[in-house]
Amino acid sequence: MKWITARRRHPLAGYVVVILALALFGVGYAAVAPTSDQAQAQTLAADVQSPEDVDVAEGKTIFDQTCASCHGLDGSGGEFGPDLRDVGPAAIDFQVSTGRMPSMNPDAQMPRKPMVMTEQELASLIAYYNESIRNGDNGADVPYDVPDIAPDFADFEPLRSDFDSEEDYHEAVEEAEAEYEAALEEYEAEYDDYITGVDNTDMGMRLYLTNCAHCHGWSGGGGALTDGRWAPEIHESTPREIYEAMVSGPGAMPMFSDGVLVPEEKQELISYVKTLQAEPNAGGIFDLQRVGQVAEGLIGWVVGLALIVACAIWITAKQRAHD
Ligand code: HEC
Ligand code: HEC
Repeated sequence: MKWITARRRHPLAGYVVVILALALFGVGYAAVAPTSDQAQAQTLAADVQSPEDVDVAEGKTIFDQTCASCHGLDGSGGEFGPDLRDVGPAAIDFQVSTGRMPSMNPDAQMPRKPMVMTEQELASLIAYYNESIRNGDNGADVPYDVPDIAPDFADFEPLRSDFDSEEDYHEAVEEAEAEYEAALEEYEAEYDDYITGVDNTDMGMRLYLTNCAHCHGWSGGGGALTDGRWAPEIHESTPREIYEAMVSGPGAMPMFSDGVLVPEEKQELISYVKTLQAEPNAGGIFDLQRVGQVAEGLIGWVVGLALIVACAIWITAKQRAHD
């Protein structure tokens, strides 16, 4: 300890103590703050099936083999999972398409992950759910009019190994690019169609700030809740998933039924969330990688406080030198 005593009166000692204390505080905060949902690779959109193109028997097999162990063969719930009979197909579509279900750990909140089944299998699962598990028409329907996932070039890209000559391969790549562009255009047209007339992001922003921002952050970066739960970032969510999150109220999220936020307000909200998603960085003077307002506030606070304390020490030191 001698070296500390010896240096305690050094003019820089005060700064060192303050900086150390703030650094410790910062590290401590980072250690206890739950990691917000890491952006995971988007689910690949294997050719999106129309809802009619389904196989109910296949859906039953999927349910029995991957869901029933926790939710019961009849979906009435059990020791490891809740009753699904009243949640509605929008909840099934949301939970499976965001990769939350099938859950790996019934005691923990599930992060967003790539979907474990194909779109075709999910459609079959939903058909089986509607036919054999759903209680009447309880719960929300899948909002099929709301666009889902945007096309991904990876789904069109040809495999080099499928071609003998470089020329054929290049030709196939060009074809794939054209197909992808066309699919993307179609998707964008579908999306524009969906938000036509409501792309008044002012209203969407107000709805977002009053209903969602206190959990998901002003920029959609997510944030911590109580009990080790967290509101995930919403930058990867498709328009349909945003809609379904609202009508199903997953986990600790409240439900915003169509009576609470009418479909048109949901469209406004979705168009606003899409503008948040489109911005590479949702603003702020310093690029803090969208850590969210609480963390940004904390950083501002720590840095600001350090400056104020440093000034105080400097002024006192000047004063002493003067005396
Ligand atoms: C390991 C157990 C487990 C498996 C397997 C599982 N689930 Fe779940 N499921 C849960 C738990 C636990 C919850 C509650 C999660 C929460 O509240 O955060 C849940 C929640 C849900 C919900 C949301 C219910 C609501 O109230 O909104 C749906 C829908 C769902 N599961 C569907 C499925 C489907 C479909 C499968 C099969 C593909 C499946 N689950 C597989 C444990 C499981
Ligand atoms: C009380 C806090 C809370 C509020 C308010 C809230 N959410 Fe959530 N939200 C959550 C939680 C928690 C989850 C994750 C649930 C889970 O995984 O079980 C979630 C999940 C989501 C997801 C899924 C994200 C993904 O891609 O994985 C979307 C989208 C979403 N919320 C949108 C909204 C919108 C839009 C609003 C406002 C209308 C809103 N939320 C209001 C807590 C909240």
